[in-house]
Amino acid sequence: MPRPKSSSAAGGCGRCSFDWRLKRPSWGHGYATEGAGECLRFAFESLRLSEVVSFTVPANARSRAVMERLGMRHDAAGDFDHPRLPAGHPLRHHVLYRLMRDAWQRSATAGTGEPP
Ligand SMILES: CC(C)(COP(=O)(O)OP(=O)(O)OC[C@H]1O[C@@H](n2cnc3c(N)ncnc32)[C@H](O)[C@@H]1OP(=O)(O)O)[C@@H](O)C(=O)NCCC(=O)NCCS
Repeated sequence: MPRPKSSSAAGGCGRCSFDWRLKRPSWGHGYATEGAGECLRFAFESLRLSEVVSFTVPANARSRAVMERLGMRHDAAGDFDHPRLPAGHPLRHHVLYRLMRDAWQRSATAGTGEPP
């Protein structure tokens, strides 16, 4: 299930990244998006983080789709090579997605007038 991976909350300006993994039979039911959505709520409302980031390898279309459904946006300038994987490793390059609290709140109120 989705869970906060790391947090560096400091005066409301910290960042948090998420990690999500489901057993194969649980794919395709919306569980990852729903769970990660609650993690976002926790990050923004309880931890008062200003931003949440997430990352994966470019080929992981399902993980990228979860990020997109959550309103996260790819920041190509933030893409990076994993520091513990050697040059040429197929999983070395990563794409970075971001979501700011303001954008999360705007998308929430645009839909329902209430927090998500
Ligand atoms: C990444 C991972 C968690 C995504 O799982 P997922 O099942 O694609 O994502 P969700 O649980 O959000 O499900 C979304 C799908 O459920 C469908 N769905 C069915 N019922 C739904 C419902 N009631 N509500 C929402 N979505 C629903 C959606 O339409 C979507 O289908 P689609 O894939 O055909 O577009 C999963 O692929 C995984 O565990 N991969 C291996 C680990 C991994 O790579 N982790 C990421 C490391 S960076």
